[in-house]
Amino acid sequence: MKAVLYNKKATPVKLSYAEIEKPVVKDSEVLIKIKAVSLNAADYRSMKMGLIPKNKIFGADIAGCVESVGTNVTRFKPGDEVMGDLAGFGFGGLAEYVAVPEKAVIIKPASISFEEASTLPMAATTALQALRNKGRIKKGQKVLIVGCAGGVGSFAIQLAKYFESEVTGVCSSKNVQQSYSLGADLVIDYSKENFAKSGKHYHLILGINGNYPLLSYRKCLAPGGIYVMVGGSLSQIAKSLLFGRVFSFGSKKMRSVAAKSTKEDLELLANLLENGKIKPIIERRYTLDQAAEAMNYLSQGHSSGKVVINIS
Ligand SMILES: NC(=O)c1ccc[n+]([C@@H]2O[C@H](COP(=O)([O-])OP(=O)(O)OC[C@H]3O[C@@H](n4cnc5c(N)ncnc54)[C@H](OP(=O)(O)O)[C@@H]3O)[C@@H](O)[C@H]2O)c1
Repeated sequence: MKAVLYNKKATPVKLSYAEIEKPVVKDSEVLIKIKAVSLNAADYRSMKMGLIPKNKIFGADIAGCVESVGTNVTRFKPGDEVMGDLAGFGFGGLAEYVAVPEKAVIIKPASISFEEASTLPMAATTALQALRNKGRIKKGQKVLIVGCAGGVGSFAIQLAKYFESEVTGVCSSKNVQQSYSLGADLVIDYSKENFAKSGKHYHLILGINGNYPLLSYRKCLAPGGIYVMVGGSLSQIAKSLLFGRVFSFGSKKMRSVAAKSTKEDLELLANLLENGKIKPIIERRYTLDQAAEAMNYLSQGHSSGKVVINIS
């Protein structure tokens, strides 16, 4: 099969398009013919940190068709359309086929395309778990989403509106219109205005991207407010993990989320997509042989929405 392998000698991105053996399913695995895979920061960040999947194939968020099943598999049969996040199962999405435990995937609703389905698992699950699990979002709350334009941010705006909150997004000029179109009530262009100097207060703040002082976030929290660190520059992540608890005194709480894909959340998100409550923004589409170019683009940190690779 065709696959994209980690290759430390390749430039500018350490990926090479290659021909390798098609995987064979074990007893509890399904063999999936991948139709679409969307890229995430987890792909290029893992690569930069030297965390290379065992089979050397990155790509976590996939959608495809079950080709064959192992003898112990009970939930799927050949021909089923499935989707899932393979980050906890060794990655492997940048390939024509992948063999994974059946618990790694769920049935994809027929009305959702493969590329739409591939955008959901990691990005939308992260937005959902940050807002609902860590942020305890409630109807009517004022929510600030810093870094609202990328994969996670574009779903976070829509999910925050689904939870009936009042959303302010922060992004650069080129993504202001996109953020309004996804439902943001107000969008702050960070190249023109510093959200921390607006004097406004929020019940919930998601820090998805950028690198801002933790005290700025704290200052913008209303009494009883919650800040959830999702991502951003590596120094932002380190600062939040090291000092978040220190600044978590009084009624203001500073937390971080480590999202974990679950069957229930992915089914909920697929259902929301099916019913038009959320929609993916697919900024760029590539083919498998262009995966290095796609990863190079995403790793620059300014994609709008998702980057998808379609595999025919
Ligand atoms: N905690 C978890 O479990 C978890 C899970 C998934 C992802 N993450 C992290 O979440 C972050 C976002 O992931 P992603 O997949 O959404 O990445 P992404 O799609 O690559 O995000 C790109 C977006 O970031 C925005 N951005 C860049 N610099 C910014 C700044 N200074 N201020 C505000 N926005 C800025 C860009 O908007 P502009 O072009 O408008 O600047 C762009 O739209 C990453 O750091 C990732 O590692 C964490």
